[in-house]
Amino acid sequence: MNSMSWERVVSVQELEHKKSALLKKGSKQIAVFKMGSEILAVDNRCPHQGYPLVQGTVDASVLTCNWHNWKFDMRTGKCLTGGDNVRTYPIKIEESFVWVEIAEPSKEELTQTILEGLKTAFTKAKYGRTSRELARLYFNGIDSTIAIKKSIEWSYEKFKTGTTHAYAACSDWLRLYFENISNPENQLICLTEAIDHMAGDALGEPFVSYSKDSVPFSEEAFISAIEAEDEKKAIALLQGALKSGLHFEQLEKVFTHAALMHYNDFGHALIYVTKTATVIEFLGKEVESPLLLSLTRALCHMTREDLLAEFQDISRYSYQSSYEALLEMNAKNFLYFDSRFEAAYDKPVSDNVGWLDVTHPMTFANAVRVQCQKYPEFWKQGLLQLSFFHGRNLPYVDTVQNVSSWAVKNKDHFFAECVEKILDHGFNDRVQAAHLLKTFCAVREEVVHSQNETTQKILLAALNRYFHSPLKFKHIRRAARQNMSLVGKDF
Ligand code: FES
Repeated sequence: MNSMSWERVVSVQELEHKKSALLKKGSKQIAVFKMGSEILAVDNRCPHQGYPLVQGTVDASVLTCNWHNWKFDMRTGKCLTGGDNVRTYPIKIEESFVWVEIAEPSKEELTQTILEGLKTAFTKAKYGRTSRELARLYFNGIDSTIAIKKSIEWSYEKFKTGTTHAYAACSDWLRLYFENISNPENQLICLTEAIDHMAGDALGEPFVSYSKDSVPFSEEAFISAIEAEDEKKAIALLQGALKSGLHFEQLEKVFTHAALMHYNDFGHALIYVTKTATVIEFLGKEVESPLLLSLTRALCHMTREDLLAEFQDISRYSYQSSYEALLEMNAKNFLYFDSRFEAAYDKPVSDNVGWLDVTHPMTFANAVRVQCQKYPEFWKQGLLQLSFFHGRNLPYVDTVQNVSSWAVKNKDHFFAECVEKILDHGFNDRVQAAHLLKTFCAVREEVVHSQNETTQKILLAALNRYFHSPLKFKHIRRAARQNMSLVGKDF
């Protein structure tokens, strides 16, 4: 132990008299307590919200923070009531003085301690603690993206139907994270939101582990297994692919193909392929296996709306051959969405539509462009499905409404405002937050890629309206009325 790391705090005699003492050394504050024959030292700042623990209440070896009543075992630092543990410090008596050893643990030890705390927060989906543990990673100079990698590891076997919005949103949170490299507070928000969403989706779910069995991979067999919803076989083929050294770059095309075989889960299949690619790009091969296993599982479980009669009726849709045209048509649906449907409770179940029904074509369009520019053979399916989105949403627009006030004058300024709103969204519902984020990212990208000024203007105005519209998160009366009607049919 480095002798320079010992600091003299107080005389034994004075501590005997006062029962507590405080050491201030640079930014550090350490509280020292005399309890019976023992002397113990802990961080003075409560790990919850920083109340000075030297003013806390001591009973035996339990220290209570007087602000929110968190209790700590001072011998171990373990939090007995509350959340985060408090750091303890070795002490020694020398020359009738109490000394505290203030040397920092190694980076490895620190990382391990913080990740243990983060895992506890993750398991209980505790937002505050997640944020604090991430802040600790940052201030200790540890690359905070390790927390995202760990969260994927802790969650992927708990998503019983595979990839959820949490992984999709993670890709966009990571994008904002890297765009905010000089703003640690914004970066903290991005990582906390990404991790909290994963934690929320995993909360209380049992592990549904993936078999390690593998069989030699072939694209045809993989496509057939997914078409047959045979998760076991699809997973074994994927394991075979990974074992033989294939990576997402080589598998991306077959995933794109699988995602576009049907009008899958309101477009989520393809959206998830694009988002998975981005997360792997940001975090590296370490996350490839869990994310691809999860994506494969999702592809086997997704709904296939193209099998519904209403989707097969091509006459309902205006089939277009151009992505730009379809993007603009869907953007118009977005801009002119009749938001009375968002609030309605007196309509049939088939008219249960809201803002998310018109934002999804934007994220789907973005995914179609990204994937189909890489694999042009899928343009036909991608565009067809985009036209389905347009036809499906057409009955829910109100083109008579005046939308001129939503026109965006300064694009860059508007995008900056959107980012501010995302970084302080205030939604309890993680899915709503994720959609705000992913719609923003998709629209921003399409505005940049579009060559058509009118399309750009419509996209921006639609996004502006969406960001300023009240969103309804829970449909209590709608559920009651529709359920009365459904159940009542049998009576
Ligand atoms: S600040 Fe200590 S319990 Fe809240």
